[in-house]
Amino acid sequence: MALVTFSSPEYRDKTVYAVAGSHTQTVLKLALENKIPINFECEDGECGTCLVKVTSIDKKNQRMGGPLTEKEKAVLKQLGKVTSEELEKMIVDDLPCEWRLACQMIVRDEDIRVEY
Ligand code: FES
Repeated sequence: MALVTFSSPEYRDKTVYAVAGSHTQTVLKLALENKIPINFECEDGECGTCLVKVTSIDKKNQRMGGPLTEKEKAVLKQLGKVTSEELEKMIVDDLPCEWRLACQMIVRDEDIRVEY
């Protein structure tokens, strides 16, 4: 069970439970199920509309890497959120990326804050 806190300057923070480990539960699905008004369009990792900033607020675990999909890498580079060098380093050192696409990021067993 993970706690996901959705945070936006326009709305009050909302924390929801997520059942981690389903391998299909994306941050976007979780948001929609809980009526969080995250912007999205393609739901397929191509438009970049669902860009979110993700930080760990987990006291038990270390921040989990969590692989970026190829589409996600391409879009994040296009948006200027990461460089190829940064991506390379994240892969080598298994580091998480703070920018994610909500429609591509699978919820893991980790408490996170999602800024949208
Ligand atoms: Fe288009 Fe996520 S909705 S990239």
